[in-house]
Amino acid sequence: MQAYRSALVTGASSGIGEAFARELAARGAHLVIVARRTDRLERLAAELRERYRVDVEVHTVDLTEPDQRSTVEERLADPARPIELLVNNAGFGTSGSFAELPLSREEREINLNVLSLVRLTHAALPSMIERRHGGVLNVSSMAGFLAAPFSATYCATKSYVTAFSESLHGEVAPQGVHVTALCPGFVRTEFETRAESVPGFAWVPIESVVREGLAAVSSGRTMCVPGAQYKAAAPVIRIAPRRLLRTVVSRVWL
Ligand SMILES: NC(=O)c1ccc[n+]([C@@H]2O[C@H](COP(=O)([O-])OP(=O)(O)OC[C@H]3O[C@@H](n4cnc5c(N)ncnc54)[C@H](OP(=O)(O)O)[C@@H]3O)[C@@H](O)[C@H]2O)c1
Repeated sequence: MQAYRSALVTGASSGIGEAFARELAARGAHLVIVARRTDRLERLAAELRERYRVDVEVHTVDLTEPDQRSTVEERLADPARPIELLVNNAGFGTSGSFAELPLSREEREINLNVLSLVRLTHAALPSMIERRHGGVLNVSSMAGFLAAPFSATYCATKSYVTAFSESLHGEVAPQGVHVTALCPGFVRTEFETRAESVPGFAWVPIESVVREGLAAVSSGRTMCVPGAQYKAAAPVIRIAPRRLLRTVVSRVWL
């Protein structure tokens, strides 16, 4: 089991990222929190400093903008201020007919969910490997196991995150660094979902997502599917016929 004294969390201004920041601060980790909404980040930082006596750096950054993102890459690579855990959480999903969705938004989704996650991971790993200690927790999704019509780009980005994380884990685990894909199902956040079409049993409490994710990365597990209902479903999803899955997913998702 690894313990982390410092962590950088992307997308910490709401939802799962904010919950990670809260839990890590409660465990005594010094934080770097990243998102676009400064007011939200500053409020959270002030609360966590006051409540847990930890350092919290606020970085107002649009991770899809290369110039802004590079400041986060530099912070991650700074050997004088090591980051022991990177939580690549910032992400969003689009839904609708791919042919009709604005291409620029699809590109931004790939930029944030995939490119930014890859670049931040690349910036963080060398010093973790050198210290033979550290973790990268990549927030993927159950959507990464699926093909969901009208969420093509989202599913594909999350498939990438899961495969990337699993592959990387095999590379760096022998050097003492853990990379884990966290694959939640539905979680109540600001993430755009047609919530009314999601059955009650399908929601996972945000606290479980965070605690299970942190337990998985610190113990060196490659993948984490939080919630008993999704743990039971994951092996079935892996062997179910893809056509059947697409039909079921379309009913629940859209
Ligand atoms: N909620 C679910 O049901 C669910 C299920 C599975 C996986 N996930 C994944 O969980 C992660 C977090 O989602 P969430 O549900 O917590 O949604 P959320 O409440 O909408 O949070 C998304 C976070 O990402 C940040 N963000 C968005 N665009 C950004 C950008 N260009 N640059 C920097 N930060 C950006 C947002 O902050 P700003 O707007 O302040 O930038 C916000 O802090 C995502 O990767 C999502 O795919 C969610």
